[in-house]
Amino acid sequence: MSVLLVEDDASIAIVITAALEAEGFAVTHCDSIAERDRLLGDQSFAALVTDVILTDGDGIETIGTVRQLAPAMPIIILSAQNTLDTAVRASDTGAFEYFPKPFDIDELARTVRQAVGSSSGRAKAEEEAQVQGLPLVGRSAPMQAVYRMITRVLRNDLTVLILGESGTGKELVAEAIHQLGQRKTGPFVAVNTAAIPGELIESELFGHEKGAFTGAVVRHAGKFEQAQGGTLFLDEIGDMPMQAQTRLLRALQSGTIRRVGGREEIAVDVRIVAATNRELEPMISAGTFREDLFYRLNVVPIMLPPLRDRADDIAALARHFLAAAASEGLPRHSLSDDAAASLARQPWRGNVRELRNFIYRLALLARENVIDAAAITALLSGMPKSDDGRGAADLESAVSGWLADADPPAGTLYDAALAAFERPLFISVLRRTGGNQLRAAQLLGINRNTLRKRLHELNLDPLQVVRPG
Ligand SMILES: Nc1ncnc2c1ncn2[C@@H]1O[C@H](COP(=O)(O)OP(=O)(O)OP(=O)(O)O)[C@@H](O)[C@H]1O
Ligand SMILES: [Mg+2]
Repeated sequence: MSVLLVEDDASIAIVITAALEAEGFAVTHCDSIAERDRLLGDQSFAALVTDVILTDGDGIETIGTVRQLAPAMPIIILSAQNTLDTAVRASDTGAFEYFPKPFDIDELARTVRQAVGSSSGRAKAEEEAQVQGLPLVGRSAPMQAVYRMITRVLRNDLTVLILGESGTGKELVAEAIHQLGQRKTGPFVAVNTAAIPGELIESELFGHEKGAFTGAVVRHAGKFEQAQGGTLFLDEIGDMPMQAQTRLLRALQSGTIRRVGGREEIAVDVRIVAATNRELEPMISAGTFREDLFYRLNVVPIMLPPLRDRADDIAALARHFLAAAASEGLPRHSLSDDAAASLARQPWRGNVRELRNFIYRLALLARENVIDAAAITALLSGMPKSDDGRGAADLESAVSGWLADADPPAGTLYDAALAAFERPLFISVLRRTGGNQLRAAQLLGINRNTLRKRLHELNLDPLQVVRPG
């Protein structure tokens, strides 16, 4: 049986040819799309193994021609463009398998063997959805695994549980699953189950009838009903109160909901995507998270790696955020390689969110067009650090430093200063209250949910603050 290999890198082609021949295939190799189409027109092949970027075109974009010439032939795609976009485009072609480079050559040979042996090689060919790129940056191996998982849930409605530390991109992944999936024309409804007070959560999720309780002056459709035909994103699921967990489980089991104060059982057609930064297993043991709900939600788990496990992605993320900051009106900068390397060495406990906030401050404050490692070090040491609780005196000198050093564009300084001021303020107050958020909110004179939200946005963990390290 013969396999057609389209690969313009001669050394990779040699290695793949050898592995496929060892697996018993005859290999025909070419290095362009034109040659590929000519060969496919002339003879039949048991499988096609193809690179994406070729000198005369894109191996994925032109897959339609391959389908016309050889409708049933399984296709295996190799790519060095290890983005989610490529993974999705590859899976949309109905390719049998997609291998981001570098890959295990023996696994490739085994996969070709399987593809030839299976008739499902042609199965996914019909759909040629037009997929546009998403703002998920990072090509590290751990992110490749995430992209593969995402592509596996696009053609079905399986429940997805996204796990990972705060700021790792869980919400972004939830949006990607919706936008790329078969429900993209339906609504995407996100609900932060931690931010809703316990007594309101049922009416939030399931809605209420007019007069169901004091204040229920009109009938209200809950998040489940709002998400009909689309995706319901249950964020911070690990912080959901126990009673609400029970009601949620019932809704998921029955596929129906009942509005608070209502009698009618309403059928709901929603895809559930849940996310949490909490470790659910210990919570199950402790009795604060329902085990049966966990199994309901944990059908397809997607683990987002912390940024420290994918330092390879940091430079690309930093450049992405610098460009984003510029498009939002901050001064345009670029990043030197040693600056990128310096960023890659930082721990980023707040993950991508912390990196993003840092880059925006950098965009605001940096004086040179090309940001170098020294500028990074200066900003890292000049700003209040994660948990050190430095006070207002330091802040004052930091602010006058910013004003002296930079020429901040109108409209951004207040937010930057506020964030820098809130951090030591919250840390001091939380230390004073022993981590009690309710008392901290009272002392500050702000709403407890506001405090909670700001702590989250600033990546401050009240318990860490009280007991650092
Ligand atoms: N891979 C990525 N590429 C580009 N931006 C990213 C990526 N991952 C995260 N971000 C950005 O980082 C920030 C935090 O991401 P997100 O809100 O999705 O995190 P999260 O995991 O939901 O955090 P939390 O647990 O705190 O809710 C957002 O501004 C998001 O756009
Ligand atoms: Mg989130």
